[in-house]
Amino acid sequence: MSHFHFQNNELFVEQVSARQLAADYGTPCYVYSRAALETNYNNFQSAFHNQQHMICYSVKANSNIAVLNLLARLGSGFDIVSGGELERVLRAGGDPGKIVFSGVGKLPDEIQRALEVGIRCFNVESEAELLLIHNIAAAKNMLAPVSLRVNPDVDPQTHAYIATGLRENKFGISGERILETYRVAEDLAHIEIVGVDCHIGSQLTDLGPFQEALKTCLEIVDTLAADGISIQHIDMGGGLGVRYREETPPTIEEYAAAIKQMIGHRNMELIFEPGRYIAANAGILLTRISYLKDNDLKHFAIVDAAMNDLLRPSLYNAWQNVIATVQSNQTPGVYDIVGPVCETSDFLAKERSLAIQSGDLLAIESCGAYGFVMSSNYNSRNRAPEIIVDGHDVYVVRQRETIDMQLALESLLPE
Ligand SMILES: Cc1ncc(COP(=O)(O)O)c(C=O)c1O
Repeated sequence: MSHFHFQNNELFVEQVSARQLAADYGTPCYVYSRAALETNYNNFQSAFHNQQHMICYSVKANSNIAVLNLLARLGSGFDIVSGGELERVLRAGGDPGKIVFSGVGKLPDEIQRALEVGIRCFNVESEAELLLIHNIAAAKNMLAPVSLRVNPDVDPQTHAYIATGLRENKFGISGERILETYRVAEDLAHIEIVGVDCHIGSQLTDLGPFQEALKTCLEIVDTLAADGISIQHIDMGGGLGVRYREETPPTIEEYAAAIKQMIGHRNMELIFEPGRYIAANAGILLTRISYLKDNDLKHFAIVDAAMNDLLRPSLYNAWQNVIATVQSNQTPGVYDIVGPVCETSDFLAKERSLAIQSGDLLAIESCGAYGFVMSSNYNSRNRAPEIIVDGHDVYVVRQRETIDMQLALESLLPE
C-alpha cells in the first residue's frame, strides 16, 4: 500500500487523514511519511547489497534535522554543500566519517570545520580549491582526503538548470585537466587522494548518461593506476530521477545492475549521493483553496501556498501532480492553481482538471525534495511547518514561522 492513499474517498498519509492534519496544523504545510523515506533508503541500500558502497544522502534535497536523523539511524552518510549543512548533519547525529563535501565554492572556514570534525572526503571542484584545502590542512598539520570531481561533458537530458555535467556548466574539472590536477594533488604533502567524483545532473530518466559518466571515471582510475596513484572509491553523485508525471526513470534495480556490470570485479567502493530519489515522493504539500476566480480565458484556484513555499514550478516550470484530498463525483473544471504572491510566475500548477470548490483542501504531490528547502519569506510570508507522519503518530519537526521569528533579526535605525 502506498504511504499516501485514499480511504473512504479521503487522502491519508499513512494512518492519518489529510483533513485531520490540516485541521490540527493549518495550511500550507509540508507532510512527510516516515515509512516512505525509510523504504526509499532501504530500496537503494538493498539494490547494492552485494557491492561495496556507501549512500551519502544529499542534504540539499530535504535538510530537516528529523529527516537527517531518521536516515542517520539507518546508517546513511551525507553529501553536504555548505557549512550549514555540515552542522545540520552533526546535530542530527550523522557520522562525520560518512560525510562527503561537494560544491564549487567552499569557503575557508567551512573547509577548516570539515577537517576538524573529520569528514570522509572533500569532492574538489578546481585546482584553486585543491590548493586552498592543502594550505588549510598544512596549517593544522593534517591530511585532507580528496576526490576530484570530473566534469565528463555528458548531456544528462534533463532541465537545463539542473544539468551539471556539461562542459559549459560551472561544475567539476574538465576531462582534459583532470589527470594533471591529480598529479598536482599527488605532490601535495597534506592531501590524500582517495577517490574520483562526478555528478552530472538531477532528475535523470535514462541510464545512458550515468554509464557514460562512469566510463569516464573508470578511465581516470585506470590511467592513475598506471601512474601509481590508487583510487579507493568512485562517487557517482546523485541524480536518479523520480516519477512526477509520466516519466519512466530506471528502477533502482536497473540502475544498480548497469553500474555493477561496469564495475565488474574491480575492488572499488562506490559512493552515491541520492537526494530526490529518497525524499521527493515521501512528501506532499497541503494547501487550501482561498478563492475560485474566473476571467474570459481561465479559471483560477487561488490557494494559500505560493511560490515562496514551493519554488519548483516557477523556477523550472516543473510539473507536480495536484489532487483534491476528498474525491468527488462532480464534473471537473480546468484550473490554474496559483498563490497570493504578486508575481505572474507565482503558480503551482497550470490547466489541471479538478472537481473543486472554495475552501477545499488540495495536496501537491512529490514535494519531499527541493520543496521546503527552497522556500523563502518572499512577500513576508511565514514559512510553512514540516510534519512527519509515522503510522498513527504525527510529529511537527518544524513549526510554522511567526511574524516575530521573521523579524527577529531586523532592527530600526536609531531616532
Ligand atoms: C553534488 C550533488 N550531489 C547530489 C545531488 C543530489 O541530486 P538528486 O537529488 O537529483 O539525487 C546534487 C543535486 O543537485 C548535487 O549537486
